[in-house]
Amino acid sequence: MRKTSQAFQRCVFVALLLAVALLDPQPEPVRAAGAGAPTDWLAPGQQQALERARQTVPLIEAIRREGPLRRREHLHDLGLTVKAVKTTYFYLNSPLISAVEDHYTGVRFNHGQHAAQAGDCSVCHHLRPEQDVAYSPHPETVRCSACHQQAFDERVPERPGLKAAYHQRCIGCHKQQRSGPQVCTDCHLKQVPDHAKLVKLPEHPDALQVTAECLRCHEAQAHDMLQTAHWLWRGPSPYTQDRSREVLHGKGTTALNNY
Ligand code: HEC
Ligand code: HEC
Ligand code: HEC
Ligand code: HEC
Ligand code: HEC
Repeated sequence: MRKTSQAFQRCVFVALLLAVALLDPQPEPVRAAGAGAPTDWLAPGQQQALERARQTVPLIEAIRREGPLRRREHLHDLGLTVKAVKTTYFYLNSPLISAVEDHYTGVRFNHGQHAAQAGDCSVCHHLRPEQDVAYSPHPETVRCSACHQQAFDERVPERPGLKAAYHQRCIGCHKQQRSGPQVCTDCHLKQVPDHAKLVKLPEHPDALQVTAECLRCHEAQAHDMLQTAHWLWRGPSPYTQDRSREVLHGKGTTALNNY
Protein backbone atom coordinates (compact mmCIF):
# COMPACT_ATOMS: atom_id res chain seq x y z
CA MET A 1 0.00 0.00 0.00
CA ARG A 2 2.75 2.36 1.09
CA LYS A 3 4.88 1.45 -1.92
CA THR A 4 2.09 2.09 -4.41
CA SER A 5 1.27 5.46 -2.87
CA GLN A 6 4.97 6.44 -3.05
CA ALA A 7 5.07 5.36 -6.70
CA PHE A 8 1.87 7.30 -7.28
CA GLN A 9 3.34 10.39 -5.63
CA ARG A 10 6.44 10.08 -7.80
CA CYS A 11 4.26 9.80 -10.89
CA VAL A 12 2.33 12.94 -9.94
CA PHE A 13 5.60 14.78 -9.32
CA VAL A 14 7.03 13.80 -12.73
CA ALA A 15 3.75 14.73 -14.41
CA LEU A 16 3.83 18.12 -12.66
CA LEU A 17 7.42 18.73 -13.77
CA LEU A 18 6.47 17.88 -17.33
CA ALA A 19 3.45 20.16 -17.21
CA VAL A 20 5.57 23.05 -15.90
CA ALA A 21 8.21 22.44 -18.58
CA LEU A 22 5.56 22.42 -21.29
CA LEU A 23 3.64 25.44 -20.03
CA ASP A 24 6.66 27.62 -19.24
CA PRO A 25 7.36 29.65 -22.39
CA GLN A 26 11.00 29.93 -23.48
CA PRO A 27 12.42 33.27 -22.34
CA GLU A 28 12.73 35.61 -25.34
CA PRO A 29 16.29 36.58 -26.25
CA VAL A 30 16.98 40.33 -26.03
CA ARG A 31 17.54 42.04 -29.38
CA ALA A 32 19.05 45.42 -30.18
CA ALA A 33 16.55 48.04 -31.41
CA GLY A 34 16.25 48.11 -35.19
CA ALA A 35 18.45 45.05 -35.61
CA GLY A 36 16.67 44.00 -38.81
CA ALA A 37 14.73 40.87 -39.58
CA PRO A 38 15.44 38.19 -37.02
CA THR A 39 16.17 34.78 -38.46
CA ASP A 40 16.15 32.69 -35.31
CA TRP A 41 13.46 34.37 -33.28
CA LEU A 42 10.04 35.82 -34.01
CA ALA A 43 8.57 38.80 -32.18
CA PRO A 44 4.80 38.61 -31.63
CA GLY A 45 3.22 39.50 -34.96
CA GLN A 46 6.55 39.25 -36.76
CA GLN A 47 5.32 36.73 -39.34
CA GLN A 48 2.35 38.93 -40.33
CA ALA A 49 4.62 41.96 -40.38
CA LEU A 50 7.08 40.24 -42.74
CA GLU A 51 4.25 39.19 -45.06
CA ARG A 52 2.74 42.65 -45.03
CA ALA A 53 6.12 44.23 -45.80
CA ARG A 54 6.22 42.30 -49.10
CA GLN A 55 2.94 43.80 -50.34
CA THR A 56 2.63 46.74 -52.69
CA VAL A 57 -0.46 48.82 -53.38
CA PRO A 58 -1.43 50.92 -56.43
CA LEU A 59 -0.42 54.58 -56.42
CA ILE A 60 -3.07 57.02 -55.21
CA GLU A 61 -2.92 60.13 -57.35
CA ALA A 62 -5.89 62.17 -56.10
CA ILE A 63 -5.63 63.42 -52.53
CA ARG A 64 -7.98 65.49 -50.40
CA ARG A 65 -6.47 68.79 -49.23
CA GLU A 66 -6.87 69.93 -45.60
CA GLY A 67 -4.68 72.22 -43.52
CA PRO A 68 -2.72 70.51 -40.72
CA LEU A 69 -4.93 71.92 -37.94
CA ARG A 70 -8.14 70.92 -39.66
CA ARG A 71 -6.71 67.49 -40.35
CA ARG A 72 -5.80 66.91 -36.69
CA GLU A 73 -9.28 67.95 -35.55
CA HIS A 74 -10.89 65.82 -38.23
CA LEU A 75 -8.98 62.67 -37.16
CA HIS A 76 -9.82 63.37 -33.55
CA ASP A 77 -13.53 63.76 -34.40
CA LEU A 78 -13.44 60.42 -36.20
CA GLY A 79 -12.19 58.81 -32.99
CA LEU A 80 -8.82 57.97 -34.51
CA THR A 81 -6.93 57.83 -31.26
CA VAL A 82 -4.54 55.33 -29.76
CA LYS A 83 -7.47 53.00 -29.05
CA ALA A 84 -8.00 52.69 -32.81
CA VAL A 85 -4.48 51.34 -33.35
CA LYS A 86 -4.82 47.65 -34.19
CA THR A 87 -1.32 46.94 -35.44
CA THR A 88 1.32 47.63 -32.83
CA TYR A 89 4.27 46.50 -34.92
CA PHE A 90 5.33 46.93 -38.57
CA TYR A 91 8.38 45.75 -40.45
CA LEU A 92 9.19 48.34 -43.12
CA ASN A 93 10.94 46.73 -46.08
CA SER A 94 9.08 47.75 -49.22
CA PRO A 95 9.78 45.98 -52.53
CA LEU A 96 9.29 49.42 -54.13
CA ILE A 97 12.58 50.48 -52.55
CA SER A 98 14.42 47.15 -52.67
CA ALA A 99 13.95 47.02 -56.46
CA VAL A 100 16.08 50.17 -56.73
CA GLU A 101 18.55 49.73 -53.86
CA ASP A 102 18.98 47.15 -51.17
CA HIS A 103 21.99 48.01 -49.06
CA TYR A 104 20.26 47.76 -45.70
CA THR A 105 17.92 45.39 -43.90
CA GLY A 106 14.34 46.50 -43.26
CA VAL A 107 13.34 48.62 -40.28
CA ARG A 108 11.44 47.45 -37.23
CA PHE A 109 8.83 50.05 -36.39
CA ASN A 110 6.95 50.04 -33.14
CA HIS A 111 3.70 51.59 -34.41
CA GLY A 112 1.66 51.29 -31.20
CA GLN A 113 4.33 52.92 -29.06
CA HIS A 114 4.83 55.72 -31.59
CA ALA A 115 1.08 56.39 -31.90
CA ALA A 116 0.77 56.54 -28.11
CA GLN A 117 3.75 58.84 -27.71
CA ALA A 118 2.79 61.20 -30.54
CA GLY A 119 -0.84 61.18 -29.37
CA ASP A 120 -1.78 62.52 -32.79
CA CYS A 121 -2.09 60.32 -35.86
CA SER A 122 -1.78 63.25 -38.28
CA VAL A 123 1.93 63.70 -37.45
CA CYS A 124 2.55 60.75 -39.78
CA HIS A 125 -0.80 60.14 -41.53
CA HIS A 126 -0.74 63.68 -42.84
CA LEU A 127 -3.00 63.40 -45.91
CA ARG A 128 -5.83 61.19 -47.12
CA PRO A 129 -6.92 59.94 -50.55
CA GLU A 130 -9.83 61.61 -52.32
CA GLN A 131 -11.59 58.24 -52.67
CA ASP A 132 -11.73 55.41 -50.16
CA VAL A 133 -9.53 52.44 -50.95
CA ALA A 134 -10.75 48.90 -50.42
CA TYR A 135 -7.51 47.42 -49.05
CA SER A 136 -7.14 49.88 -46.18
CA PRO A 137 -8.95 49.50 -42.84
CA HIS A 138 -9.40 53.27 -42.89
CA PRO A 139 -8.76 55.73 -45.76
CA GLU A 140 -7.53 58.30 -43.22
CA THR A 141 -4.56 56.16 -42.26
CA VAL A 142 -3.80 54.49 -45.58
CA ARG A 143 -0.21 53.29 -45.79
CA CYS A 144 2.54 55.71 -46.82
CA SER A 145 3.47 53.60 -49.84
CA ALA A 146 0.02 54.23 -51.35
CA CYS A 147 1.12 57.81 -52.07
CA HIS A 148 4.92 57.68 -51.81
CA GLN A 149 6.58 55.30 -54.24
CA GLN A 150 9.42 56.10 -56.63
CA ALA A 151 11.98 58.83 -55.96
CA PHE A 152 10.57 60.67 -58.95
CA ASP A 153 7.21 59.91 -60.49
CA GLU A 154 6.04 62.29 -63.21
CA ARG A 155 2.40 61.63 -62.28
CA VAL A 156 3.09 63.14 -58.83
CA PRO A 157 6.38 65.07 -59.13
CA GLU A 158 5.85 67.12 -55.94
CA ARG A 159 5.95 64.07 -53.67
CA PRO A 160 9.12 62.65 -52.14
CA GLY A 161 9.74 58.95 -52.83
CA LEU A 162 9.00 56.38 -50.13
CA LYS A 163 12.56 56.21 -48.77
CA ALA A 164 12.82 60.01 -48.49
CA ALA A 165 9.33 60.25 -46.97
CA TYR A 166 10.38 57.84 -44.20
CA HIS A 167 13.81 59.38 -43.68
CA GLN A 168 12.45 62.92 -43.49
CA ARG A 169 9.55 62.08 -41.20
CA CYS A 170 11.26 59.52 -38.95
CA ILE A 171 14.72 61.04 -38.54
CA GLY A 172 13.25 64.57 -38.58
CA CYS A 173 11.17 63.89 -35.48
CA HIS A 174 13.95 61.97 -33.69
CA LYS A 175 16.24 64.97 -34.24
CA GLN A 176 13.64 67.45 -33.14
CA GLN A 177 12.72 65.48 -30.01
CA ARG A 178 16.32 64.50 -29.31
CA SER A 179 15.07 60.99 -28.77
CA GLY A 180 14.93 57.96 -31.07
CA PRO A 181 17.56 56.72 -33.53
CA GLN A 182 19.28 59.04 -36.01
CA VAL A 183 22.31 56.88 -36.76
CA CYS A 184 21.81 54.67 -39.84
CA THR A 185 22.61 51.35 -38.21
CA ASP A 186 20.33 52.05 -35.23
CA CYS A 187 17.37 51.63 -37.60
CA HIS A 188 18.71 49.15 -40.12
CA LEU A 189 21.83 47.03 -40.44
CA LYS A 190 24.03 47.08 -43.52
CA GLN A 191 23.55 44.01 -45.64
CA VAL A 192 27.08 42.69 -46.00
CA PRO A 193 27.41 39.18 -47.40
CA ASP A 194 29.57 36.68 -45.54
CA HIS A 195 33.07 37.32 -46.90
CA ALA A 196 34.38 34.00 -45.64
CA LYS A 197 32.26 32.44 -48.41
CA LEU A 198 32.90 35.11 -51.07
CA VAL A 199 36.66 35.47 -50.91
CA LYS A 200 38.54 32.70 -52.74
CA LEU A 201 42.28 32.60 -52.08
CA PRO A 202 45.06 30.00 -52.25
CA GLU A 203 46.49 28.51 -49.02
CA HIS A 204 49.19 31.15 -48.30
CA PRO A 205 48.32 34.16 -50.47
CA ASP A 206 50.69 37.08 -50.88
CA ALA A 207 49.48 40.67 -50.37
CA LEU A 208 48.94 41.34 -54.09
CA GLN A 209 46.83 38.22 -54.51
CA VAL A 210 44.58 39.39 -51.69
CA THR A 211 44.22 42.86 -53.17
CA ALA A 212 43.44 41.40 -56.59
CA GLU A 213 40.78 39.15 -55.07
CA CYS A 214 39.07 42.10 -53.33
CA LEU A 215 39.21 44.12 -56.57
CA ARG A 216 37.30 41.35 -58.33
CA CYS A 217 34.17 42.76 -56.69
CA HIS A 218 35.25 46.15 -55.39
CA GLU A 219 36.30 47.88 -58.60
CA ALA A 220 34.12 50.93 -57.83
CA GLN A 221 35.51 51.29 -54.31
CA ALA A 222 39.04 51.04 -55.72
CA HIS A 223 38.21 53.87 -58.11
CA ASP A 224 36.83 55.98 -55.23
CA MET A 225 39.92 55.28 -53.15
CA LEU A 226 42.18 56.59 -55.92
CA GLN A 227 40.43 59.99 -55.58
CA THR A 228 41.09 60.34 -51.86
CA ALA A 229 43.85 61.94 -49.85
CA HIS A 230 45.13 58.47 -49.01
CA TRP A 231 46.20 57.99 -52.61
CA LEU A 232 46.81 61.49 -53.98
CA TRP A 233 49.98 63.45 -53.20
CA ARG A 234 47.97 66.60 -52.74
CA GLY A 235 44.63 67.90 -53.92
CA PRO A 236 40.87 67.87 -53.36
CA SER A 237 39.52 64.66 -51.97
CA PRO A 238 35.89 64.44 -53.09
CA TYR A 239 35.24 61.12 -51.36
CA THR A 240 36.77 62.03 -48.00
CA GLN A 241 33.99 63.10 -45.63
CA ASP A 242 34.29 66.67 -44.27
CA ARG A 243 37.56 67.14 -46.21
CA SER A 244 36.24 67.17 -49.75
CA ARG A 245 37.16 70.80 -50.44
CA GLU A 246 40.49 70.97 -48.70
CA VAL A 247 43.19 70.93 -51.33
CA LEU A 248 46.18 70.52 -49.04
CA HIS A 249 45.45 66.98 -47.95
CA GLY A 250 47.36 64.10 -49.43
CA LYS A 251 50.39 61.88 -49.07
CA GLY A 252 52.62 64.89 -49.76
CA THR A 253 51.26 66.72 -46.70
CA THR A 254 48.97 65.23 -44.06
CA ALA A 255 48.13 61.65 -45.01
CA LEU A 256 50.22 58.54 -44.39
CA ASN A 257 51.98 57.16 -47.45
CA ASN A 258 51.30 53.50 -47.06
CA TYR A 259 50.01 52.40 -50.45
C1 HEC B 1 14.64 56.39 -38.00
C2 HEC B 1 15.06 55.25 -38.72
C3 HEC B 1 16.05 55.40 -39.86
C4 HEC B 1 17.31 55.94 -39.80
C5 HEC B 1 18.02 56.57 -38.61
C6 HEC B 1 17.89 55.75 -41.12
N1 HEC B 1 16.99 55.12 -41.94
FE1 HEC B 1 17.36 54.45 -43.84
N2 HEC B 1 15.46 53.77 -43.96
C7 HEC B 1 14.51 53.85 -42.96
C8 HEC B 1 13.25 53.31 -43.46
C9 HEC B 1 11.95 53.21 -42.68
C10 HEC B 1 13.49 52.90 -44.78
C11 HEC B 1 12.50 52.24 -45.74
C12 HEC B 1 12.63 50.75 -45.59
C13 HEC B 1 11.86 50.03 -46.65
O1 HEC B 1 10.64 50.17 -46.72
O2 HEC B 1 12.49 49.32 -47.47
C14 HEC B 1 14.90 53.21 -45.08
C15 HEC B 1 15.54 52.90 -46.29
C16 HEC B 1 16.87 53.15 -46.57
C17 HEC B 1 17.55 52.79 -47.80
C18 HEC B 1 16.92 52.10 -49.00
C19 HEC B 1 16.72 50.62 -48.73
C20 HEC B 1 17.95 49.77 -48.78
O3 HEC B 1 17.91 48.64 -48.23
O4 HEC B 1 18.99 50.16 -49.34
C21 HEC B 1 18.83 53.22 -47.69
C22 HEC B 1 19.96 53.09 -48.72
C23 HEC B 1 18.96 53.85 -46.39
N3 HEC B 1 17.73 53.78 -45.73
C24 HEC B 1 20.11 54.42 -45.91
C25 HEC B 1 20.23 55.06 -44.69
C26 HEC B 1 21.43 55.76 -44.26
C27 HEC B 1 22.72 55.86 -45.06
C28 HEC B 1 21.16 56.26 -43.02
C29 HEC B 1 22.06 57.11 -42.13
C30 HEC B 1 22.49 58.37 -42.71
C31 HEC B 1 19.79 55.88 -42.67
N4 HEC B 1 19.26 55.16 -43.72
C32 HEC B 1 19.16 56.18 -41.47
C33 HEC B 1 14.70 54.31 -41.68
C34 HEC B 1 15.86 54.90 -41.20
C1 HEC C 1 5.28 57.94 -36.05
C2 HEC C 1 4.43 57.82 -37.21
C3 HEC C 1 3.03 57.26 -37.05
C4 HEC C 1 2.07 57.66 -36.14
C5 HEC C 1 2.15 58.75 -35.08
C6 HEC C 1 0.90 56.86 -36.43
N1 HEC C 1 1.15 56.00 -37.45
FE1 HEC C 1 -0.16 54.62 -38.25
N2 HEC C 1 1.30 54.01 -39.54
C7 HEC C 1 2.58 54.53 -39.62
C8 HEC C 1 3.34 53.76 -40.58
C9 HEC C 1 4.78 54.02 -40.97
C10 HEC C 1 2.47 52.76 -41.07
C11 HEC C 1 2.80 51.62 -42.03
C12 HEC C 1 2.75 52.08 -43.41
C13 HEC C 1 3.04 50.95 -44.37
O1 HEC C 1 3.13 49.79 -43.96
O2 HEC C 1 3.16 51.28 -45.54
C14 HEC C 1 1.19 52.96 -40.40
C15 HEC C 1 0.02 52.18 -40.65
C16 HEC C 1 -1.19 52.36 -40.04
C17 HEC C 1 -2.39 51.60 -40.35
C18 HEC C 1 -2.54 50.51 -41.40
C19 HEC C 1 -2.89 51.12 -42.71
C20 HEC C 1 -3.25 50.11 -43.81
O3 HEC C 1 -3.73 50.56 -44.88
O4 HEC C 1 -3.04 48.91 -43.64
C21 HEC C 1 -3.38 52.08 -39.53
C22 HEC C 1 -4.84 51.60 -39.48
C23 HEC C 1 -2.80 53.13 -38.71
N3 HEC C 1 -1.46 53.28 -39.06
C24 HEC C 1 -3.48 53.86 -37.75
C25 HEC C 1 -2.91 54.86 -36.96
C26 HEC C 1 -3.66 55.61 -35.96
C27 HEC C 1 -5.16 55.42 -35.64
C28 HEC C 1 -2.78 56.49 -35.41
C29 HEC C 1 -3.01 57.53 -34.33
C30 HEC C 1 -3.54 57.06 -33.06
C31 HEC C 1 -1.47 56.27 -36.04
N4 HEC C 1 -1.60 55.27 -36.97
C32 HEC C 1 -0.32 56.98 -35.74
C33 HEC C 1 3.07 55.58 -38.90
C34 HEC C 1 2.44 56.22 -37.87
C1 HEC D 1 -2.98 60.28 -49.45
C2 HEC D 1 -1.62 60.43 -49.92
C3 HEC D 1 -0.49 60.45 -48.91
C4 HEC D 1 -0.25 59.55 -47.88
C5 HEC D 1 -1.09 58.37 -47.46
C6 HEC D 1 1.01 59.97 -47.28
N1 HEC D 1 1.50 61.07 -47.93
FE1 HEC D 1 3.23 62.06 -47.48
N2 HEC D 1 2.87 63.42 -48.99
C7 HEC D 1 1.79 63.37 -49.85
C8 HEC D 1 1.88 64.50 -50.77
C9 HEC D 1 0.88 64.83 -51.86
C10 HEC D 1 3.06 65.21 -50.43
C11 HEC D 1 3.62 66.46 -51.09
C12 HEC D 1 3.42 67.66 -50.23
C13 HEC D 1 2.00 68.14 -50.31
O1 HEC D 1 1.41 68.12 -51.40
O2 HEC D 1 1.46 68.53 -49.26
C14 HEC D 1 3.65 64.51 -49.29
C15 HEC D 1 4.80 64.91 -48.64
C16 HEC D 1 5.41 64.22 -47.63
C17 HEC D 1 6.65 64.62 -46.98
C18 HEC D 1 7.49 65.86 -47.30
C19 HEC D 1 6.77 67.14 -46.94
C20 HEC D 1 6.29 67.19 -45.53
O3 HEC D 1 5.06 67.26 -45.34
O4 HEC D 1 7.10 67.10 -44.60
C21 HEC D 1 6.92 63.66 -46.05
C22 HEC D 1 8.12 63.65 -45.11
C23 HEC D 1 5.87 62.67 -46.09
N3 HEC D 1 4.96 63.04 -47.07
C24 HEC D 1 5.82 61.55 -45.29
C25 HEC D 1 4.75 60.63 -45.25
C26 HEC D 1 4.68 59.45 -44.39
C27 HEC D 1 5.75 59.02 -43.40
C28 HEC D 1 3.49 58.83 -44.65
C29 HEC D 1 2.88 57.60 -43.98
C30 HEC D 1 2.76 57.60 -42.56
C31 HEC D 1 2.81 59.62 -45.68
N4 HEC D 1 3.62 60.69 -46.03
C32 HEC D 1 1.58 59.31 -46.22
C33 HEC D 1 0.78 62.43 -49.84
C34 HEC D 1 0.63 61.39 -48.93
C1 HEC E 1 6.45 62.30 -33.71
C2 HEC E 1 7.83 61.95 -33.55
C3 HEC E 1 8.35 60.64 -34.13
C4 HEC E 1 8.19 60.18 -35.41
C5 HEC E 1 7.46 60.85 -36.56
C6 HEC E 1 8.91 58.92 -35.48
N1 HEC E 1 9.48 58.64 -34.27
FE1 HEC E 1 10.60 56.94 -33.83
N2 HEC E 1 10.78 57.59 -31.92
C7 HEC E 1 10.29 58.77 -31.41
C8 HEC E 1 10.68 58.89 -30.00
C9 HEC E 1 10.32 60.07 -29.07
C10 HEC E 1 11.42 57.71 -29.69
C11 HEC E 1 12.05 57.32 -28.36
C12 HEC E 1 11.12 56.42 -27.63
C13 HEC E 1 11.69 55.94 -26.33
O1 HEC E 1 12.90 55.72 -26.27
O2 HEC E 1 10.90 55.78 -25.40
C14 HEC E 1 11.48 56.92 -30.92
C15 HEC E 1 12.10 55.69 -31.02
C16 HEC E 1 12.25 54.95 -32.18
C17 HEC E 1 12.96 53.69 -32.29
C18 HEC E 1 13.72 52.97 -31.17
C19 HEC E 1 12.78 52.36 -30.19
C20 HEC E 1 11.99 51.26 -30.78
O3 HEC E 1 10.76 51.41 -30.91
O4 HEC E 1 12.55 50.20 -31.12
C21 HEC E 1 12.86 53.28 -33.60
C22 HEC E 1 13.46 52.02 -34.22
C23 HEC E 1 12.07 54.29 -34.29
N3 HEC E 1 11.71 55.29 -33.40
C24 HEC E 1 11.74 54.22 -35.64
C25 HEC E 1 10.94 55.15 -36.29
C26 HEC E 1 10.54 55.05 -37.68
C27 HEC E 1 10.95 53.94 -38.63
C28 HEC E 1 9.77 56.14 -37.94
C29 HEC E 1 9.11 56.55 -39.23
C30 HEC E 1 8.18 55.62 -39.85
C31 HEC E 1 9.69 56.94 -36.72
N4 HEC E 1 10.41 56.30 -35.74
C32 HEC E 1 8.98 58.13 -36.61
C33 HEC E 1 9.56 59.74 -32.09
C34 HEC E 1 9.17 59.66 -33.41
C1 HEC F 1 32.62 37.98 -54.59
C2 HEC F 1 32.53 39.42 -54.35
C3 HEC F 1 33.33 40.04 -53.21
C4 HEC F 1 34.66 39.85 -52.89
C5 HEC F 1 35.67 38.91 -53.55
C6 HEC F 1 34.93 40.77 -51.79
N1 HEC F 1 33.80 41.48 -51.46
FE1 HEC F 1 33.64 42.89 -50.01
N2 HEC F 1 31.64 43.12 -50.41
C7 HEC F 1 30.97 42.46 -51.42
C8 HEC F 1 29.57 42.89 -51.40
C9 HEC F 1 28.48 42.41 -52.37
C10 HEC F 1 29.47 43.83 -50.35
C11 HEC F 1 28.18 44.57 -49.89
C12 HEC F 1 27.84 45.68 -50.79
C13 HEC F 1 28.70 46.85 -50.59
O1 HEC F 1 28.74 47.38 -49.46
O2 HEC F 1 29.35 47.26 -51.57
C14 HEC F 1 30.80 43.97 -49.77
C15 HEC F 1 31.09 44.85 -48.72
C16 HEC F 1 32.37 45.04 -48.22
C17 HEC F 1 32.72 46.03 -47.22
C18 HEC F 1 31.75 47.02 -46.60
C19 HEC F 1 31.30 46.58 -45.27
C20 HEC F 1 30.41 47.63 -44.66
O3 HEC F 1 30.04 47.45 -43.50
O4 HEC F 1 30.08 48.62 -45.32
C21 HEC F 1 34.06 45.92 -46.98
C22 HEC F 1 34.90 46.74 -46.00
C23 HEC F 1 34.56 44.87 -47.84
N3 HEC F 1 33.51 44.35 -48.59
C24 HEC F 1 35.89 44.48 -47.90
C25 HEC F 1 36.37 43.47 -48.71
C26 HEC F 1 37.75 43.03 -48.72
C27 HEC F 1 38.87 43.65 -47.86
C28 HEC F 1 37.83 42.04 -49.65
C29 HEC F 1 39.07 41.22 -50.03
C30 HEC F 1 39.68 40.49 -48.95
C31 HEC F 1 36.51 41.85 -50.23
N4 HEC F 1 35.65 42.73 -49.63
C32 HEC F 1 36.17 40.93 -51.21
C33 HEC F 1 31.49 41.53 -52.30
C34 HEC F 1 32.80 41.07 -52.30
